[in-house]
Amino acid sequence: MSKVTVVGAGNVGATAANVMALREIADEVVMIDIKEGVSEGKAMDMMQTANLLDMNTRIKGVTNDYEATKDSDVVVITSGIPRKPGMTREELIGVNAGIVKQVTESVLAHSPNAVIVCVSNPMDTMTYLIHKVSGLPKNRIIGMGGALDSSRFKYYLSKALNANPNEVEGFVIGGHGDTTMIPLKRFATLRGVPVSTLLPAETLDKVAADTMVGGATLTKLLGTSAWYAPGAATAEVVEAVIHDQDAIIPCSALLEGEYGESDLCIGVPCVLGKGGIKKIIELDLTAEEKELFKKSAEAVHKTNAALPC
Ligand code: NAI
Ligand code: 2OP
Repeated sequence: MSKVTVVGAGNVGATAANVMALREIADEVVMIDIKEGVSEGKAMDMMQTANLLDMNTRIKGVTNDYEATKDSDVVVITSGIPRKPGMTREELIGVNAGIVKQVTESVLAHSPNAVIVCVSNPMDTMTYLIHKVSGLPKNRIIGMGGALDSSRFKYYLSKALNANPNEVEGFVIGGHGDTTMIPLKRFATLRGVPVSTLLPAETLDKVAADTMVGGATLTKLLGTSAWYAPGAATAEVVEAVIHDQDAIIPCSALLEGEYGESDLCIGVPCVLGKGGIKKIIELDLTAEEKELFKKSAEAVHKTNAALPC
């Protein structure tokens, strides 16, 4: 029996729970929120799709009842406020730090062996905060950002290449921020062919720039931050852990010397499986890429310094 708890049944949390259920990633998914009735209603609505969509996962929704989250294998934290148009992820720190700290303590009291997946923004800093407040082994805390940013990178690449997004590979490292993420153009391919041989440098630069503001573009269109791709990217991370896939997914991980950095969580390629982060892959970056990573790490350190606790 595998069990996943999603804290925060808002746009991202509910979408992640729905994708997990439809893909039958876990046997049971529990959504918990502070808003009376919202988790219960969304869970009931999703369960009423079970016979329509041939879904076998059981979804439960609760308000503030952490007992229902007991013995979860994975806990996803999406609770907090999202950004509005014009806001950066970093501006959410004051409110979200308090929520993420309280939620971490509550979930671990009921699921002491869970792997935690942090989604709440500013995600790299919230992931670091979870390390600080929980004292868990570093493999058990995963920040979800790179999975989403990489999917957006592949989307923009597929548009430029006029190709099926499923045939494009590529990934993004660094902080999950408009100016801190690093789409690694050098490693991107279409069916194994480096995209640098298929697209002019200016087009690739535009793809990278569009990727970096991908979240902001959607926030402007929607009036709040996006949820379909964030929810699906969260489910991808959970699936890798629950199904022990040894999948290589860029995630925010605590660095202890890797990439020349330490005492921060930032996006790097990770091998995900049972127990969480099994390994951090150290890429042989060029001098230019190393410089971008250093700047990104500096910005994440700066946001971490603003943590109120
Ligand atoms: P939302 O406002 O739709 O949902 C947040 C939910 O959290 C609400 O239902 C709210 O009642 C709940 N909540 C607040 N305090 C809580 C508490 N103490 N315990 C339990 N639930 C609580 O927001 P949305 O769009 O779902 O975004 C959630 C977070 O995820 C935001 O911080 C957003 O910036 C972040 N995000 C991160 C992404 C990433 O790639 N890491 C991508 C998209 C969003
Ligand atoms: C996103 O990238 C705001 O982190 C959120 O959509």
